[in-house]
Amino acid sequence: MERSQHWYVVASSREIRSEPVAKRRFGATYVLWRNRSGEVICLPDRCPHRGASLSQGALVGGAIQCPYHGFRFDERGACTHIPCQPDKPIPIRMKLEPPEICERDGWVWMWRGQPGGARPSPPTSELYADFVYGEISSEWDAHFVRVLEAQIDYTHVPFVHRSSFGRNMDPKMDIAIETAPGSFRARLVGRPEESFQFIELLYPNVWINRTGDKVQIISAFAPIDEHRCEMYVRFCQRFLTAPWIGRAVAELGAWLSRRIIGEDLPIVAAQLPQAVEETRDVLLASDVTVTTYRKMRRMAFKAYREQAAGDDQRSSNS
Ligand code: FES
Ligand SMILES: [Fe+2]
Repeated sequence: MERSQHWYVVASSREIRSEPVAKRRFGATYVLWRNRSGEVICLPDRCPHRGASLSQGALVGGAIQCPYHGFRFDERGACTHIPCQPDKPIPIRMKLEPPEICERDGWVWMWRGQPGGARPSPPTSELYADFVYGEISSEWDAHFVRVLEAQIDYTHVPFVHRSSFGRNMDPKMDIAIETAPGSFRARLVGRPEESFQFIELLYPNVWINRTGDKVQIISAFAPIDEHRCEMYVRFCQRFLTAPWIGRAVAELGAWLSRRIIGEDLPIVAAQLPQAVEETRDVLLASDVTVTTYRKMRRMAFKAYREQAAGDDQRSSNS
């Protein structure tokens, strides 16, 4: 999948515990776990010996032990033990290259840009503050951009969601958009909710639907490969502050959002072409959120290609 100088959400912090778990992202499979200090560790889920899945193995003294022949790899991917020949040197190629990851705002992020050099921080928003959230996730048979675009699109609501929150919604819309580096906000002009409802997109794969001061929905769209993604939905609330009741209500809100997602899913999964890069969609002014996102994406890929070409030039000159 094409790269750009960005951090992508690849998992929710809640999913990563002390036991190894496999996640397929960007067409490759990774094993993740949380070490004794609480840090998230991520390695390719493929043993360099003969290709077994490390996520089927076990953690032994902080290292992951392959289920097939028991080779162990530390948190940086170095092989530390080969049981069948413990006294011989470990071959140089017997190692794993860990992807660069970090954790912020309850998400695990993966860097998809050039290795080394300066890094931006993962995108964040002031809207994250003070909310209790419940969370669900679901896999979609669709490119993550198609799924994300359905969430930032106002004009599908009176049709796809006509039996839920889009009932009686006027399909004629005037959408205002404000852009900022790495993000944008959009809202419906001239509607009663104009003063408090808006959507905020944090490039590349997080979306916040601010439905009011006390409730908002946050979604992230983790790419599995060119044809699938995993969507996370957080129902965030701050109208109930009592700890367990607040959390229970947030979890219920997240669970109820499955119905809304179920309305989008068959439409988005059937869109052609699946990969939005190939698309020849005929876009209108009412698609302004989609065109804004696609422009950000095109510019991100272009910047990456230019930087990569510059790096190649510098290394051939040196
Ligand atoms: S395949 Fe992993 S130790 Fe052999
Ligand atoms: Fe929708």
